[in-house]
Amino acid sequence: MIKLALTKGRIEKKALDLLEQCGYDISPVREKGRKLVFSCGSLEIILAKAPDVITYVQSGVCDAGIVGRDTIMEQGGSFYELLDLGFGKCRFALAGIAGTDFYGGYSHKTVATKYPNIARRFLDSKNAECEIVKIEGSVELAPILELADAIVDIVETGATLRENGLVPIEDVAQVSARLIVNPASMKLHKTELTDFINRCERELECRV
Ligand code: PRP
Repeated sequence: MIKLALTKGRIEKKALDLLEQCGYDISPVREKGRKLVFSCGSLEIILAKAPDVITYVQSGVCDAGIVGRDTIMEQGGSFYELLDLGFGKCRFALAGIAGTDFYGGYSHKTVATKYPNIARRFLDSKNAECEIVKIEGSVELAPILELADAIVDIVETGATLRENGLVPIEDVAQVSARLIVNPASMKLHKTELTDFINRCERELECRV
């Protein structure tokens, strides 16, 4: 049996749709209640928060995981990133209050984000000397409350930025859901994982 850690929330439904179309009976997860571990034939599905999906796959207690590239970019780790699953598409952007010039002037700027590593790498690549403030959620509040000049955050539809008077300044990176696999599992469960990966690949090809 393959242990698959699946990110709860935003990408969960589309991940389950993909697994169903790959031929797995994921009905136990659809009727989930508060359970976290589900037996689905040759798959055991574990629901976890995105950073924990990486922790479980990296440690080898799960063989594979489905997680957004945002978390992979922020957290890093040792695992194979095998497939772009094509859903959960959004982007990282630098955004600020409409009408302000983030790169203009000589003053030291402050950037708020839930993703300090991604923000740091991006701002360093721009030679922009900024202070980074870690915020846990609703990062848009930081410029509104004048804690920060700008944010680095996920933008999907753009509605949250718009409704809070912010505008995108620059794209930082594209994001989508990825299939990650533990390297040791790839050797130990080669047949089962190859079958699983092939099924995902075939389904993704059909979607093109
Ligand atoms: C994300 C992100 C933005 C919002 C963008 O937050 O941090 O706030 O979605 O989506 P949009 O472009 O479609 O408006 P999330 O919903 O994950 O909640 P959080 O801020 O509590 O992390």
